[in-house]
Amino acid sequence: MADAGCPDAAGDAAADQRVAEGEALIMRQAKRYGATAERAAARAFDLDGYLKAHAATIERALAATVAESDGPATRLCEAMRYSLLAGGKRLRPILALAACEAVSGAPEAALGFACAVEMIHTYSLVHDDLPCMDDDDLRRGRPTNHKVYGEAIATLAGDGLLTDAFKVLARAGAAAGTPPAALLETIAELADAAGSAGMVGGQVIDLLGEGRTLGLADLEVMHRRKTGALFVAAVCGGARLGGATAAQLAALREYAAALGLAFQVIDDLLDVEASAEVIGKRTNKDEARGKSTYPALMGVAPARAFAHELIERAAGALAEFDDRADALRTLAAYAVERKL
Ligand code: IPE
Ligand code: IPE
Ligand code: MG
Ligand code: MG
Ligand code: MG
Repeated sequence: MADAGCPDAAGDAAADQRVAEGEALIMRQAKRYGATAERAAARAFDLDGYLKAHAATIERALAATVAESDGPATRLCEAMRYSLLAGGKRLRPILALAACEAVSGAPEAALGFACAVEMIHTYSLVHDDLPCMDDDDLRRGRPTNHKVYGEAIATLAGDGLLTDAFKVLARAGAAAGTPPAALLETIAELADAAGSAGMVGGQVIDLLGEGRTLGLADLEVMHRRKTGALFVAAVCGGARLGGATAAQLAALREYAAALGLAFQVIDDLLDVEASAEVIGKRTNKDEARGKSTYPALMGVAPARAFAHELIERAAGALAEFDDRADALRTLAAYAVERKL
């Protein structure tokens, strides 16, 4: 990521300490993934080992994307790093690397892109938690960004993460020698997924739907946009940067769309079934805010069955792929079995 043209903050002792904490956290999560994978994977795939090989790379690369500034914007950089380097499952960047590998690409080709996706995801969480949106005070096991830095800086930290993500992606692609057409398409697809036609649009449906009961069809559209779109961009971008064919991209799009929808169905279920200590964010918030969710509309057991059905669909989309797609297969199983 030093190649991405971003300041490398890894030399600083405090930054190193945070990277080490991030690595330790993700390896604890990796153990959970591994246990889940053993039960759920159709083939015996060592997801624990896979993550050992990738998670530390992602943590280190992420830490280098936002410098620790000592200038007038120090507080902004601090706020951006506070949320970006707070752990998190890193599922989207891991999926990007796994999709790159599934089409025989070298994961380094997609590392800058993977960081950009996680930066956009993190910005979406910072804004999602603001008082004008879901009004949350706990995220990734810590006080939300605005609780620490105030609403104005939290809003700007989100803006910074979103905008800088495209700088990271463009520079990393240029440094890696990505063919310009592939890089441009990846940038456009990521912007489309994050923007009004994707996540931002989905968040609007979510907020305007508070206090009303959406039908199942509208709920599905909302979830596909607010959460699914970024999963599709992560997987397809990673694959494109790995040299995927059009047929491979079409199959991976289907895989990621099913996985992304299932992921949000499980998020809805965790809100009613999990505890804040385990998932690192408040629970029972959706009903309190009058949100339409899968468990509210379908009931808990049917919602879980729907998520499993979606994951079978996701796995089915990988039928033509060889064992290089086993990480994607196992990550799909993890997405519905996860406890956080
Ligand atoms: C939470 O995403 C927000 C949703 C879109 C459901 P994650 O569950 O991936 O959150 P982190 O990144 O692990 O914190
Ligand atoms: C968030 O959905 C989707 C985003 C785009 C951030 P939620 O509002 O359900 O996510 P959590 O439960 O707060 O993580
Ligand atoms: Mg929300
Ligand atoms: Mg929320
Ligand atoms: Mg939620």
